[in-house]
Amino acid sequence: MSLRIIIVGAGLIGPRHAQSVLSNPLTELAALIDPASSAASVASQLQTAYFPSISSMLESIAKPDAAIVCTPNHTHVAVSRELLANGIHVLVEKPISDSIETGLELLEFARKPENAHLKLLVGHHRRFNPYVLKTKEILDAKSLGQVIAVNGLWTLFKPDQYFEPPGDWRRKQSAGGVIPINLVHDIDVLHYLFGPVVRVHAEKTLPQRPNPPHESEEGAALTLRFASGVVGTFLVCDATPSPHNFETGTGENPLIPQSPTGSDSDFYRIFGSNASLSVPDMTRWSYDRRAEKSWNESLVVERFEVEHATPFDMQLGHFVDVIRGNAEPSCSGAEGLRALIVCQAARKALETGQPVDIDRLV
Ligand SMILES: NC(=O)c1ccc[n+]([C@@H]2O[C@H](COP(=O)([O-])OP(=O)(O)OC[C@H]3O[C@@H](n4cnc5c(N)ncnc54)[C@H](O)[C@@H]3O)[C@@H](O)[C@H]2O)c1
Repeated sequence: MSLRIIIVGAGLIGPRHAQSVLSNPLTELAALIDPASSAASVASQLQTAYFPSISSMLESIAKPDAAIVCTPNHTHVAVSRELLANGIHVLVEKPISDSIETGLELLEFARKPENAHLKLLVGHHRRFNPYVLKTKEILDAKSLGQVIAVNGLWTLFKPDQYFEPPGDWRRKQSAGGVIPINLVHDIDVLHYLFGPVVRVHAEKTLPQRPNPPHESEEGAALTLRFASGVVGTFLVCDATPSPHNFETGTGENPLIPQSPTGSDSDFYRIFGSNASLSVPDMTRWSYDRRAEKSWNESLVVERFEVEHATPFDMQLGHFVDVIRGNAEPSCSGAEGLRALIVCQAARKALETGQPVDIDRLV
């Protein structure tokens, strides 16, 4: 029997999840929920039922099995709690919340005995991106030797329209900003590849947009220390035309054109004791098969192939597997919270000018 899934939130990303639900033979799109009246026409395009609230949906149709929460960040916890309280499994978009406290509250609520049979996943879909999966495979095979350091970029230009109502929450300090909206994805990928970050420092980029109305940060240069001893630097900025970001490099977002060649838009460089790797051109540099491992030798260049896959579809397939008891969540609520905590640490470092130890923040 297929799983009946609802989408909560019909803005930018909700309809993309809806397409995944429609295209998966194991799932059925039961309804679209959004208080905005414009969502009714989105629902009719998707040929599904429309309701302005979860309660009105529950009064009208059979309880769905699961929901994908695609509402603004500051509503994630309230919406997810309402769904769990009604016995519905939840995949909530990233970040899990707009504050550590409410994120923790959601985790505690999900762990209550009466909810323990329900699944709570966070939508860090890049864990299912084929470039990330290939990178993890390369690292797990120790192809780079011991990982020493990572250098990352997420630099891109967002137009004014992106910040206009109803998306004006994106320019508010509490819910928006490039750190919780964009950097959080990369932090989760870095956690997935290298384990937990334990210390963060950050310096703000020069603002390009007027404040007011833009309250939130536009960018930062970060240093990261991981529990494994790996160190990293990361530059994030949403006010510069640049190809060096995950979306342009991988082409995973249909709204952001892909770079014609991945090597023009590398966004991660990973340095190991035996070799280094750049992503998404998947180029490995080493002295393998040279007379000696030495800077006097010319580097050996190899390229890894990556197979095409749609991360949102793969994430949905994983959600189905988790609900059916065939897999453990790749990005659980706790993993989602871990990424949020690092983002909040970066913001604290911006405010205080001091490095932040993650365990002191929680
Ligand atoms: N995984 C990704 O790549 C990705 C990409 C974009 C956005 N997101 C995340 O998805 C979420 C939504 O982002 P967006 O850009 O689609 O936002 P958006 O502003 O375009 O859409 C949000 C929608 O939610 C609706 N809404 C607000 N409160 C609601 C409630 N209580 N119940 C039901 N609907 C409600 C709004 O009316 C709006 O239509 C955010 O958390 C964002 O961080 C993830």
